[in-house]
Amino acid sequence: MNDIAVIGLGVMGRNIALNLADRGHAVAVYNRSPGKTEIMMGQVSSPQQVEALHDLAQLKDCLSAPRKVLLMLTAGAAVDAVIEQLTGILEPGDVIIDGGNSNFHDTQRRWQALKQQGYLFIGAGISGGEEGARHGPSIMPGGDPAGWPLVQPLLQSIAARTDDGEVCCQWVGEGGAGHYVKMIHNGIEYGDMQLIAESWALMQAARLSEQEIADTFYQWNDGVLQSYLIEITADILRVRDDDGELRVQRILDSAGQKGTGRWTVIDSLELGAPLTLISEAVYARILSAFKAQRVAASEKISLSGQSPEVDTSVFVNNCEQALYASKIISYTQGFMQMRLAAKEYGWNLQYGNIALLWRAGCIIRSLFLTDIKKAFDQDPDLDSLMLDNFFAQALQQAEAAWRSSCMLGIQSAVPMPAMNAALIFYDGYRSATLSANLLQAQRDYFGAHTYKRIDQPENVSFHTDWTGSGKEEIVS
Ligand code: 6PG
Repeated sequence: MNDIAVIGLGVMGRNIALNLADRGHAVAVYNRSPGKTEIMMGQVSSPQQVEALHDLAQLKDCLSAPRKVLLMLTAGAAVDAVIEQLTGILEPGDVIIDGGNSNFHDTQRRWQALKQQGYLFIGAGISGGEEGARHGPSIMPGGDPAGWPLVQPLLQSIAARTDDGEVCCQWVGEGGAGHYVKMIHNGIEYGDMQLIAESWALMQAARLSEQEIADTFYQWNDGVLQSYLIEITADILRVRDDDGELRVQRILDSAGQKGTGRWTVIDSLELGAPLTLISEAVYARILSAFKAQRVAASEKISLSGQSPEVDTSVFVNNCEQALYASKIISYTQGFMQMRLAAKEYGWNLQYGNIALLWRAGCIIRSLFLTDIKKAFDQDPDLDSLMLDNFFAQALQQAEAAWRSSCMLGIQSAVPMPAMNAALIFYDGYRSATLSANLLQAQRDYFGAHTYKRIDQPENVSFHTDWTGSGKEEIVS
């Protein structure tokens, strides 16, 4: 009898199945087209651990009860189609886990539908790419809490661990909570990647040599920015074509996206979360894809002036501080959104644990998440990381360097939407007063939308006759 079945043997499914087998679990595997099953079986080092299935119906008798089936499929219709087949084969009380990048709304819907039929559905975000899947991903499970104890030993055995031995796979919450947290992870991934790309562009405008740039990223990986994405960037910036040109300079500057970043932004608008940095990162990818129009515009509108001269070591330090501060803002916004989501969707999210889940195995793994965990351990109800002493101080210390980096980008015509969005958010969030009073007056002027007064109770609304007497009246 097998402990679990993995359905969908693309690169992620195959590697998860191999990981499970390495951890001593008996795994049944199935793929709709048999070719992928054959590839997988060719890679198995302990064949007695893995059984290849040729028909989904075999699932009924090859798994110990309650059965556990892990779907590693492309998000969308394929997941619904396989779930429908499974409900004709499995029995109530069995567990179906969706380990793909599903939209959390779909996971909520599937969880509710399967619950009614007696199945335990779990939507588990899995991060870490191919390597993570094979040797230890970060896993963010949510769904039916009754299913968690049944799959916990299996999922935790294959997950990444921090240096302190903490396992990066913990229960996130009911329904779509696991896939929601994975979606925020991916949004943050977009933000981190965009900030790094902007810093790289700024370094080029500041006339650092290719060698200096690569070395800088390596050095940064020993400091506050230590992270997987900084590390891989340093590696990328060393690889050259045969003629000596950096490979990255030959890659078409038009970014793809599968949709998780966009979902994060859509949800931010629905919740009213100020997710400005990740939104800019998504728009930056969208703008990059307008390659032909950008080329045409660059021929029509020439640049005036040149980038200012800078002192390299001062610049590098400023840029590191600016990237660090911007990253703090990005995570501030991501965690603010999760708090709003928890309220809206009825989840009891543990923010410190979420930071821990991302500490190893996943794409955004970084040293800095330890400080986020500490902040939420100190105050689990922290509204925003900007209100935590450690981060408030870190931002203030970085402020001058951050402004100087943004200004250099503006003077040098380097588009840095994410870094600027971060600074603008910082200035907005820590402003006790904003110019929104004028917006309220304008709204009242043209639409009689009313306003509140700072010297009157919040439940009293006012309207002014702006075009006539200027008289103000209370509107009930
Ligand atoms: C991960 C990644 C993974 C994948 C994204 C990339 O956590 O392992 O986020 O989910 O790389 O799908 O997404 P884009 O194609 O949208 O950049």
